[in-house]
Amino acid sequence: METERSSRPFDVVVWGATGFTGRLVAEYIATRYGVGSNVRWALAGRNLNKLEKLRNELSSQTPNAANLPLLQAESNDLASLERMASQTRVVCTTVGPYSQHGSPLIAACISAKTDYCDITGEVHWARQMMSQYHAKATEQQQRMVSFCGMDSIPSDLGVYLLQREAQERWGQPLSDVHFYLMDHQSAWSGGTAASLLAAGQDIRRNPRLLRDLLDPYNLNPAQAPRGPTRWDPVHGRWDSRVQRWVAPFVMGLVNTRVVRRSQALLPSLYGQNFRYHEWMCFSPNLKGRLLAYSVPVATQSFLGLCTLPMADKVLSRFLPQPGEGPSQQQRESGFFQVLLVGEGVLPNGARKTLRVVCHGNRDPGYGATAGMLAESALCLALDQEDLPPRYGYLTTAAAMGDALLPRLRSAGVTFSVEKD
Ligand SMILES: NC(=O)c1ccc[n+]([C@@H]2O[C@H](COP(=O)([O-])OP(=O)(O)OC[C@H]3O[C@@H](n4cnc5c(N)ncnc54)[C@H](OP(=O)(O)O)[C@@H]3O)[C@@H](O)[C@H]2O)c1
Repeated sequence: METERSSRPFDVVVWGATGFTGRLVAEYIATRYGVGSNVRWALAGRNLNKLEKLRNELSSQTPNAANLPLLQAESNDLASLERMASQTRVVCTTVGPYSQHGSPLIAACISAKTDYCDITGEVHWARQMMSQYHAKATEQQQRMVSFCGMDSIPSDLGVYLLQREAQERWGQPLSDVHFYLMDHQSAWSGGTAASLLAAGQDIRRNPRLLRDLLDPYNLNPAQAPRGPTRWDPVHGRWDSRVQRWVAPFVMGLVNTRVVRRSQALLPSLYGQNFRYHEWMCFSPNLKGRLLAYSVPVATQSFLGLCTLPMADKVLSRFLPQPGEGPSQQQRESGFFQVLLVGEGVLPNGARKTLRVVCHGNRDPGYGATAGMLAESALCLALDQEDLPPRYGYLTTAAAMGDALLPRLRSAGVTFSVEKD
């Protein structure tokens, strides 16, 4: 299969290249890897005129970009998606909301036996795709990898690194890992706002989705044993590990599910008794305390609002529109800093602690996410020999693990292990 795939014209096709994040992915690959070099890649989207305009703009910064091939593919035209998927080793997609436009591409990649990655944060959609295609992708030795952006690479690879380090040092995994978003500077795009509102409307139409979303093991493979977590935390509190007030991190609703799927896919690395939670940090004073208690209430109220009838129409007026997002200056001055603290007890009763710091030198949602998605796609396409022989609907940790870490470094996202 791999031999057939390597004879295809492209290593990577970026679908959705004319959107806000897709354009950043295209700029990233053009700037870092060039055109007509070792990486064979193409721009894809639904509108050829917009693709040509993008290619012209890229040409002003990148030699040979005028030669970039353009592929036209629209989500409601399966034949166009199959044509695109059959020409490449990997499709990476930023076409969202994924629950509205993403499913036909997955079907096309399965039909063409093409590897796939995306930056969705839509757990309910990913759950549906995993249930539908995990078995077929495994049988066909394909790697399908969602959540290759800020959601959920820092969480997923941070925990992977902690567990790998714990196994190397002590021959056993850590039983508890806590993620802390220590600091960040970021903004939203219209595509992210549209995806959140689309998810709210999906829940309104099918309230069962809410129950599924609150299930801590919602993304686990069907037969995998469940771990010890019954509910994720919902309230703020004082945290002595970081000496700060903390509240449950809203994106933890996505990231914790992904990390738990990694645990289920890599049980010998993570162990069976593994607990994982995510927090965002506030200052260690009265203001921090007020925020830690009020942010969860405000977030839950906003998410609840998104499920009301017509919320997508009303709220979208106050949010950025599709195609809009943070300015170059905002992306370049943005950053994030995550601390992951892992704990466990050795058979002799000694407590052990390991810490991993993940840092990004661009805004998390777009500058850093574009680099993370591009490097994930290139890793799937070009680092075959370094990838574990694991197939199906995977996570970044299970599909790529160590092979992805040096690539992320070149995208400005670093992981470093510290010992207590
Ligand atoms: N997880 C993360 O960390 C993360 C970070 C950033 C973004 N995201 C997600 O990424 C997605 C994209 O965000 P964005 O801000 O880049 O959105 P955007 O600017 O609105 O771009 C959406 C892209 O989808 C294309 N598109 C829409 N409908 C299509 C269809 N029927 N067929 C083919 N293409 C279609 C658009 O094409 P046109 O250009 O022709 O309109 C555009 O290229 C969202 O789902 C967002 O939530 C996730």
